[in-house]
Amino acid sequence: MRHLLSIADLTRADVERILDTAAALQGVEEKLPALRGKLVLSLFFESSTRTSSSFELAAKRLSADVMSLKAAGSSVDKGESLKDTVLTLAQYQPHAIVVRHPQIGAPQLVARHSGAAVVNAGDGKHQHPTQALLDLFTIRDALGRLDGLHVAIVGDVVHSRVARSLVQALALVGAHTTLVGPPTLLPRGIEAMGCDTSTEIAAIDDADVVYVLRMQRERMESAFVPSLREYAARWGITIERVRPGQKVMHPGPINRGVEIDGRVADGPDSLILAQVRAGLAVRMAVLHDVLASDVPAREAAAVA
Ligand code: NCD
Repeated sequence: MRHLLSIADLTRADVERILDTAAALQGVEEKLPALRGKLVLSLFFESSTRTSSSFELAAKRLSADVMSLKAAGSSVDKGESLKDTVLTLAQYQPHAIVVRHPQIGAPQLVARHSGAAVVNAGDGKHQHPTQALLDLFTIRDALGRLDGLHVAIVGDVVHSRVARSLVQALALVGAHTTLVGPPTLLPRGIEAMGCDTSTEIAAIDDADVVYVLRMQRERMESAFVPSLREYAARWGITIERVRPGQKVMHPGPINRGVEIDGRVADGPDSLILAQVRAGLAVRMAVLHDVLASDVPAREAAAVA
C-alpha cells in the first residue's frame, strides 16, 4: 500500500492484512526496529487526542523518528497555506506524513507535493480510514468475526467522516450497517454507500453493535436538532435502549449525557477503551504497511 487516503482505495485483502498485522503487534510492549531510520511527520490542523497520540506512539514503537506539527503555534497561524507548509517540510524528506485537516482532499494535496507515503488522519467530513480499521479490529476482537454482523451507527452522520469510512469498511468485510438518527442528520442518498437508514431509534434493537457518533457542534452552522436535551431524549443511548451483550462503541471524544449515557459508556458492554488500545496497534500496522511492506510484521515482531 503506497498511501492510505480512503477506505475506497482498499480491497478486502488489504483490510485483512492490516488487521492481522495489528493482531500480531498488539501486546508487544517493547520497541521494534522495523522503521529504524524512517522519518514520520505528523501534521494536525484540527484538534485531536486519540488519533495524534496513537500515531506518534505507533511510530515510536516501530523505532521511527517522529516530528509533530500542530496548526496552532506554527506558521499556519501566519496564513501559510497547506501547500507551502508541505513544500517546506518535504525538504526534510519524511518517509511518511500523517495529516488531519478540516478540508476534504487535503491528504491528496499533501501526497501530490511530497514524495512521502501519506496517511489520512481525518479530512473534514470525508474520510478517517484508520478509525474505521481500528473499529473493525475492535469488533473482530470482541465478537470473533465481521462477516454477517449488523452494526447500527447512531447520531450525527451528516458531519461524520468516521461514519463514511466505517460504512465502506463494514461493507467490504461483509457486515451490514444501518444508519440511525433524525432526518436532519442523515445525508440524503447515503444508502448508495451500501447501508440502510432509519429515523427510528428502535432500529438499533437487533444490531450486534451500536456505534454512537459524537454530536459535532463545531461543524454545525445552523440548528440541526431543536436542542441537545431533546436529541438526548429521542436518540441518546441509555441503559434502557441497549440490551445486555449488545456491544457499544464511540470514536471519542464522548459527550456524556448527550449522545451516550455515562452508565453505558462505562458499562460492561462498552468497547470504547478497547478502541483506543486498538488504535495503537492498527496505526503501527498501517505505518508498517506503507513504509516497510517488504518486511512481514511477524518477522518484525520476532526481531524484537
Ligand atoms: C473523531 C474525528 O475526529 O473524526 N474522533 C477521533 O478521531 N477519535 C470523531 C469525532 O471527533 O467526533
